Amino acid sequence: MQNFDYCTPTRLIFGEGVVEKLPEVMKQYGQKVLLTYGGGSIKKLGLYDKVKELLSDFEIVELAGIQPNPKYDPSVLEGVKLCKENDVDVILSVGGGSVLDCSKAIAAGAKYDGDPWDLISYKAKAQAALPIVDIITLAATGSEYDCGGVISRTETNDKIGYVDPLLYPAVSFLDPTYTFTVSKKQTAAGCADAMNHIMEQYFCEDSTLLNDAFMEGALKSLMINAQKCLDNPEDYKARAEMMLDCTYGCNGIYSLGNSESGWPCHGMEHALSAYYDITHGEGLAIITPRWMKHILNEKTVNRFVKYGVNVFGIDASLDAFDIANKAIDATYKFFESINIPMHLKDVGIDESRIDEMAHHVAVNEGLEEAWAPLTEKDIVAIFRASL
Ligand code: NZQ
Ligand code: ZN
Repeated sequence: MQNFDYCTPTRLIFGEGVVEKLPEVMKQYGQKVLLTYGGGSIKKLGLYDKVKELLSDFEIVELAGIQPNPKYDPSVLEGVKLCKENDVDVILSVGGGSVLDCSKAIAAGAKYDGDPWDLISYKAKAQAALPIVDIITLAATGSEYDCGGVISRTETNDKIGYVDPLLYPAVSFLDPTYTFTVSKKQTAAGCADAMNHIMEQYFCEDSTLLNDAFMEGALKSLMINAQKCLDNPEDYKARAEMMLDCTYGCNGIYSLGNSESGWPCHGMEHALSAYYDITHGEGLAIITPRWMKHILNEKTVNRFVKYGVNVFGIDASLDAFDIANKAIDATYKFFESINIPMHLKDVGIDESRIDEMAHHVAVNEGLEEAWAPLTEKDIVAIFRASL
């Protein structure tokens, strides 16, 4: 078991109607608020009006239009400018993971004198960041409980995961009713994203019984509850369970004491989203079973056996490779059953840029260090198998 030093300082406020506490929470962080949001879902939801009403005593400046796969230019740059010009005290992010990730980069950029890209690209280390409060409206990324954000820079095809303990949200409001309006496509993609966060931690050299049980349970919960959310989008219990599965998924709590896994599917997916702006969870669902097939060998098979028996209930008396292959097929079939497009060509990606993307991943993501190391040639093979 590995040593660890763990702290998540984020306060979670969970349940229907908890947004009423917003004024009391915001008061602790100041008077001037940057309100960040995306393309309009929060207006349709009535949440925009609700927030404005609750914060009528605050000074609010707004950054609207943050896109999925949030962009450095214009969103991060505009947000930093607004914070500096208006002497903002606190950021309130209302929306999905993209709005929150963008808000995290703004929070650090607002307290930095140079080009904020220095921070995102790890050329410089942030010394401070504005506090962030969020109301998360989509169950997927876990950004509401972690200190990472993923920012895209279109002109260089970069999509970088920027991690800094200064970026933990101070407070996250989790009201499952806000996720009732999430489309079937985004519900399924969110499930795949959260499942992948768990799998990326599960597939490692050294794990504990406790962590395995947490993760196997969370995977089963995600599959059951995502299906219920798709069948009945207003099933409160299912939306609530899915929300918490996702919230815990990316903050490391499931794998304290485990050895590093290397997060290979995320490393590869970031290139797909960077080059083609696809939905993150769909890219992950496409790559993951192909990655599993590619790395299955004598060294990795036992981990797949445990996964297959405990998550999918595959007969433990079968041959190890038989169990592993059945588990990989079951993973593929589950994603297919929730209507995720399962080929790159279904999401507009052909083979023309595969070599270039694989090179980008090999140079930038360090996947030779992963639990099952991947060279550039391996990445090409996984992308090709995903076509
Ligand atoms: O822009 P609006 O109008 O708000 O619409 C959004 C967007 O079109 C919509 N949406 C959000 N809440 C809704 C809703 N529609 C109806 N009802 C609601 N309640 O959903 C669409 C997708 O939103 P987005 O925020 O992009 O989705 P998600 O939360 O899945 O975030 C994806 C981003 O997070 C990054 C991904 O790479 C991607 O850029 N990730 C962040 C992580 C982190 N910070 O820890 C970890 C993840 O691995 C992931 O990489
Ligand atoms: Zn993810």
